[in-house]
Amino acid sequence: MGTGPTAPAASGHRGSLLLALLLGAAAAFLPLAEPSCPRDNSLVKDINQMHQSDYGRKGFSHITIAGALAHGMREVEVWLQTFGPGQRTPIHRHSCEEVFVVLKGRGTLLLGSTSLQYPGTPQEIPVFQNSTFTVPVNDPHQIYV
Ligand SMILES: *[C@@H]1O[C@H](CO)[C@@H](O)[C@H](O)[C@H]1NC(C)=O
Repeated sequence: MGTGPTAPAASGHRGSLLLALLLGAAAAFLPLAEPSCPRDNSLVKDINQMHQSDYGRKGFSHITIAGALAHGMREVEVWLQTFGPGQRTPIHRHSCEEVFVVLKGRGTLLLGSTSLQYPGTPQEIPVFQNSTFTVPVNDPHQIYV
C-alpha cells in the first residue's frame, strides 16, 4: 500500500488524522454510495485525481482507493480518510474485519470488544502516526481526533 496523497495534507494541521483503511467489501458504513463516481478501469490511478468527498462533514475527507462500486472490488475495499480537529465517526461496526494504518497525526480509537480485558466496557486507545490496528468483525468502534 502506498502512503497516499501526502504533500501538504496534515503537516500544518495540528490535531488532524490521515488514515488508510482496509475493509471487507461488505462494509458499506458510509451513508452514500458515491453515485456520481464513474467507473475507473485504469490500472494505475493518481490518488490526487480520485473522487474525494466530505459527505457534508466539514474537515472530513474520504477517497475510495479501491471500492466495489467504482472499481469492481469483491473481497476488500481500501479507503483514505482525513479527520480534521473535532471530527469523529459515528459509533459503528462492520460485518468484516478492518485494518487501519495511521499515516499522519494522532487520534483516539474507542473500541467495545469482546476481545478486550473487560468485555462490554468500551476502551479509549490512543493511535498515532505510523501505528496500525485491526478491528475484529462486529466490534463496535469509533475514531475521533
Ligand atoms: C513514520 O514513518 C515514515 C516512513 O517510515 C518515517 O519517514 C517517519 O519519520 C515516521 N514518523 C514517525 C512520527 O514515526
